[in-house]
Amino acid sequence: MKIAISGKGGVGKTTLSSGLARLWAEEGRRVVAIDADPDANLAIALGADAATEAACVPLSHWDDLIEERTGARPGAGGMFRLNPEVADVVEMCGTDIGGVTLLKMGTVERGGAGCMCAEGTFLKAFLQHLLVQRGDVAILDMEAGIEHLGRGTAEGVDVFVVVVEPGSRSVHTAAAVHALARDIGVRDVVAVANKVRDASDAEYLREALGDIPLLGVLPESDGVRRADREGASPYEADPAFSEALRGIAHALEERIGEK
Ligand SMILES: Nc1ncnc2c1ncn2[C@@H]1O[C@H](COP(=O)(O)OP(=O)(O)O)[C@@H](O)[C@H]1O
Ligand SMILES: [Mg+2]
Repeated sequence: MKIAISGKGGVGKTTLSSGLARLWAEEGRRVVAIDADPDANLAIALGADAATEAACVPLSHWDDLIEERTGARPGAGGMFRLNPEVADVVEMCGTDIGGVTLLKMGTVERGGAGCMCAEGTFLKAFLQHLLVQRGDVAILDMEAGIEHLGRGTAEGVDVFVVVVEPGSRSVHTAAAVHALARDIGVRDVVAVANKVRDASDAEYLREALGDIPLLGVLPESDGVRRADREGASPYEADPAFSEALRGIAHALEERIGEK
């Protein structure tokens, strides 16, 4: 299962990513979680302590490795290989957090991940390998844009999830992300509602989302808020939230199994 998660800032992308990652890891699956947000905080949400989080070096900063694999040092310019070897990158650069293997993408200076530079090419090759060749569960915690996904990697994504909260702005972002994702060849885009307080919140979202299918609903939770304040994982912060999270995990499994 390859799942990409996007949506407006603050809607709960990282909360959902970490929850799904922990849940599937606990079921015994091999889960690779990718923090593709430049404002990276997935490690903490997975339950990492500050030292572990700090030790998690973004892939774009593995200069020696990138030079070894591409033939060019990040930032140095010049010629480089377009098909670097990346099959061992998860094992080499990943950090185990509560049974989940976490990697941070990091940012590429000048021009984004699509730029013609050694580190951008390396990151792209890595994502392509992860999404298209590897058998593990992969969860991509992205930003509101879909910067890191291109045509070659988009087709590896089984389900693209846009997280929304009960308000028009996050729905507006969802519609924009939905269109972008479709443009680059993502096959299946669904919404997950988060911070839902009552039936009218859910009803509002179902209507506002239009033709974006609503896969599931996560409740607004004091436990989740508290966990964030304490630097703890939202996973298991609140039984009602965990129960809803399991529902979403199963809905994703079914959706992918049916295809
Ligand atoms: N269901 C929820 N109930 C209460 N607070 C939530 C819920 N989901 C997320 N939050 C809080 O909202 C904030 C943003 O969540 P986060 O997952 O970091 O969003 P994003 O990754 O989309 O920017 C955090 O403080 C988080 O604890
Ligand atoms: Mg986030």
